[in-house]
Amino acid sequence: MNRTRRLRKTENIRRLVRENRLHVDDLIYPIFIEEGRGIETEIESMPGVKRFSLDTISKELDEVTSLGIPAVLLFGIPTAKDEIGSETWNDQGIIQKGIRFIKKHYPKLYIITDVCFCEYTSHGHCGIIHNNDVDNDATLVNIAKQVISHANAGAHMVAPSGMMDGMIAAIREALDETGFYDLPIMSYAVKYASAYYGPFRDAADSTPTFGDRRTYQMDPSNRDEALREATFDDQEGADILMVKPALAYLDIIRDLKNNFDRPLACYNVSGEYAMIKAAGEKGWIDEDRVMMESLLSMKRAGADIIITYFAKDAARLLQKT
Ligand code: PBG
Ligand code: ZN
Repeated sequence: MNRTRRLRKTENIRRLVRENRLHVDDLIYPIFIEEGRGIETEIESMPGVKRFSLDTISKELDEVTSLGIPAVLLFGIPTAKDEIGSETWNDQGIIQKGIRFIKKHYPKLYIITDVCFCEYTSHGHCGIIHNNDVDNDATLVNIAKQVISHANAGAHMVAPSGMMDGMIAAIREALDETGFYDLPIMSYAVKYASAYYGPFRDAADSTPTFGDRRTYQMDPSNRDEALREATFDDQEGADILMVKPALAYLDIIRDLKNNFDRPLACYNVSGEYAMIKAAGEKGWIDEDRVMMESLLSMKRAGADIIITYFAKDAARLLQKT
């Protein structure tokens, strides 16, 4: 008889034949930085995640660095919004100040910036609006300005999340022209128009005031199209490809892993986090175990890197084992 149970007898043999492992080195922690002072606002739908101003953020960064998490992904919440999100390329903007602060006080932490406009536009869309829709090519011009401003402030990597066509080529060109040829791009290459972003939009105050993002983010029904999206970003020079969300899109993660020779990231988004936290709080599931099982499923699907609000919780658990 074929007896697969032979290799499951004890924890030690299970360790020896274990195929996938979660490690703190796999994790990126998203952080919300808000303009202002004394801010430490709990996000109701994301228990344990807060918006900080720069004068309160140190204890959060102390925790992240002492847990050994290698990188953070920065999101900015500005005081001033306008039609085009011009605050995104203000060298004194909240992200730019945040980058300089982190570099000064946490010189080893790797800083990735989310590059988009939705937190900065009065209408909440990810670019310039013309005729009730985001104008792709006009937005590319401003993406380049934003990226250069992040790079000048000292960002280590940029992560464009707007799903504009040609955004990777535009960013690569802008960076190369200004001497930042060594600065890598992590592309939100395959980003779906997902209901799982709900809590994030509360956190980042980025819900569109009209319409939705379905003219630029992908249709959740589509799988082949993900390869097309990733192919273009690969050709345009993305250094890391990303799939977002993660849990409902594990098939897409595996497709990209099988088809592209680039490090692959996935974004375990706010709604995925909120579901596990909520069921955990109710005592309906074992939160820690469901969290670890979920993160592991992303690795098993093929992700090399996981962007997750669970990064601190997971790192803490990993230290114990
Ligand atoms: C902005 C952006 C979003 C997320 C990351 N960058 C939201 C959106 O497209 O509305 C989602 C993150 C999350 O839900 O955790 N373009
Ligand atoms: Zn956006």
